[in-house]
Amino acid sequence: MKRIIAPSILSADFNHLGAEIEMLNRSVADWIHVDVMDGVFVPNLSFGFPVIEAIRPNTTKVLDVHLMMVQPERYIDAFKKAGADVLTIHYEASTHLHRSIQQIKAAGMQAGVALNPHTPVSCLEEIIQDLDLVLLMTVNPGFGGQSFIPNSLDKIKRCRELILRKNSHALIEVDGGVGPQNAATLFDAGVDVLVAGSAIFNASHPSETIDKMLKAK
Ligand code: DX5
Ligand code: ZN
Repeated sequence: MKRIIAPSILSADFNHLGAEIEMLNRSVADWIHVDVMDGVFVPNLSFGFPVIEAIRPNTTKVLDVHLMMVQPERYIDAFKKAGADVLTIHYEASTHLHRSIQQIKAAGMQAGVALNPHTPVSCLEEIIQDLDLVLLMTVNPGFGGQSFIPNSLDKIKRCRELILRKNSHALIEVDGGVGPQNAATLFDAGVDVLVAGSAIFNASHPSETIDKMLKAK
């Protein structure tokens, strides 16, 4: 299993976004998580292309873009152009998931599928071999600062079993209510990538918090 920390800039200080990215550049985080919300799939709006385009030249970290939007297939090439490295779309928002995954890969990005808390891992049975990433939502998507849903731990184990059984190379990422307090448990359960927004950006020493999460035991 890998250990990757992906700070979510949803909780960053947007008055000083450049400085926040600089802080991440100097940190041990390998990825930067970027949450795009459309106000339809989730009851919130965040940001889109101009913000991703502004970040891209200022970092060599992997830009991990999480689309919480309906009809994500309409914007695959535009997200590539804006600078995404990993593009994750929601299972619940994709009628033709197989086609969209192939389009993401053809555009030159890694392809991820996100599952809402109520969506079982078994829905990935026929597609897991095509995926680079499974993003398990550990809160209901839309807002930072919510509490981790405890049932997610069993779900992570079921996801790891599916990946092993199908011989898939997909990474497991968890998103929501994650921080130094549960990082070790999550890595032990089989997670590769931890997303954290408020736990990192609201901390008095964000970069040390990232370090603590990476080395959690
Ligand atoms: C929630 C987003 C998350 C969010 C996590 O819908 O997908 O990436 O930033 O925030 P925290 O870590 O504060 O729960
Ligand atoms: Zn996210």
